[in-house]
Amino acid sequence: MSNKISIELDRKIAPINHDIFGGFAEHLGRCIYGGIYEPDSPLAGKDGLRKDVLEALKRLNMPVMRYPGGNFVSGYRWRDAVGPKAERKARMELAWHDLEPNTFGTNEFVDFCRKINSEPYMAVNCGDGDMRDARDWLEYCNGTKDTHLVKLRKEHGYDAPHNIKFWSIGNEVDGPWQIGMKTPEEYARAYAEYAKVMKWTDPSIKLLAAAVSLWDKNWVERVQLLMEHANYFKPFTGNRDLIDYIAIHWYVGNDDRRGFANDDFASYMAISERFEDHISSTEGIIRAMSSALKLERDIPIAVDEWNVWYRVHNEGKLEEIYNLEDALVVAMHFNSFIRHAKTVKMANIAQIVNVIAPIYTKPDGMFLQTTFHPFEVYSKTCGSTALDVHWSGDTFSAEGKNGNRSLNGLRTLDVSATLDEAKKQLAVYIVNRTEDKASDVTINLQDGKFKGSGKQYIVNGSDVKAVNSFEQPDNVVTRESSISASGSSFSASLEPHSFTALVFDLA
Ligand code: AHR
Repeated sequence: MSNKISIELDRKIAPINHDIFGGFAEHLGRCIYGGIYEPDSPLAGKDGLRKDVLEALKRLNMPVMRYPGGNFVSGYRWRDAVGPKAERKARMELAWHDLEPNTFGTNEFVDFCRKINSEPYMAVNCGDGDMRDARDWLEYCNGTKDTHLVKLRKEHGYDAPHNIKFWSIGNEVDGPWQIGMKTPEEYARAYAEYAKVMKWTDPSIKLLAAAVSLWDKNWVERVQLLMEHANYFKPFTGNRDLIDYIAIHWYVGNDDRRGFANDDFASYMAISERFEDHISSTEGIIRAMSSALKLERDIPIAVDEWNVWYRVHNEGKLEEIYNLEDALVVAMHFNSFIRHAKTVKMANIAQIVNVIAPIYTKPDGMFLQTTFHPFEVYSKTCGSTALDVHWSGDTFSAEGKNGNRSLNGLRTLDVSATLDEAKKQLAVYIVNRTEDKASDVTINLQDGKFKGSGKQYIVNGSDVKAVNSFEQPDNVVTRESSISASGSSFSASLEPHSFTALVFDLA
């Protein structure tokens, strides 16, 4: 059977917010120390930042960067990590049970973000911290009046406010692993109080509610209570909306790499159904509550932690080596975010360097993991509008593994498409979920015509388990070539187990 993708350029889902290509840097393992910041490395600049890492991150083009955790934030004391380095306070941190030297903190992070053109996004401590501390940190960063905290920032060398726009209140407060875990009611109350004082401190900020990561039986109630409490306080806060995003998290992986089952590529590829479920059910509860509360605006979703994660340790540090099938799963995430462009307005891959990351370093070098490549292709080619494409063709079945139920009739191709109206370009993203055979595909334009020229980007490797390493950094890479397409139809043969992006110029 052959596969058909049918595209109407007028059938638009929504504008795409490029914040879906966001990142996340946590004080965990070798993400900050030994990843981003390594003053002793021959590859570091005078500021201690790794120049090679900055260059690689620029290629990923991440518009927003979340920091400093993760679980780490629930015990974080921001004051320990500002000011002269000699006076910084080292502490044992209890999320990852590591020594935190605090030589990298708020100001170093903001400098780092400016170098890679990312908007800093801070999470405040809603674990063992309090709202006074959160408000103080916000004032230290964004304040403009002549206050003690603003003077302190200036003494630390930063006259101009950082103007940090995105702030989240806590992290994974639904998890028993979190310092200061909260029931749905406790977090909804705490969130509304923190949000109130933070918006009073700086009304221009955007606040994210750390709604769901555990996906247990209480998750619907969590979103419901958050929205109810925030809405109750609205009239008392100058009519300000207290929730700007509902934030959700998930991690996935192939069961066989966790040592549970025989190798099963098909059920791993079917994992896209899991994140489709997470997004659509979150959309559903937000919509139901918006209707019940008569909200006059849509609350978008931020998937502010997502990735493939096996919890593998290397010399005591959490470090994954990704293979090709993991890279395909990363590509399917972006297809999902694009298909849900109406609601998903931010997403942050967790994380960026060494820990669960597309970049892997040692003091004198680095290599790009398999997952780096689809990320780079999407962030570089994604258009401004998501298109609602229809596709049909081959299907596959998957056993009930990887946290999925058994599934039949799944489409072999996983597809999304975007339009760049200014450049008159159509991008079609396809993951071919076959392990050993090519898939033929025909793309038909229902309106508009191809102009002739275009580009094709293919991410693939010898087999689904192919990995990159310091010794063999190019086993899985992106191959870029020209394509030509005219009229309204384009056919191609997609390699087995591949991700292909087709970028067409339109007449
Ligand atoms: O990204 C690693 C950890 O995963 C984060 O600290 C936490 O939020 C999540 O459980």
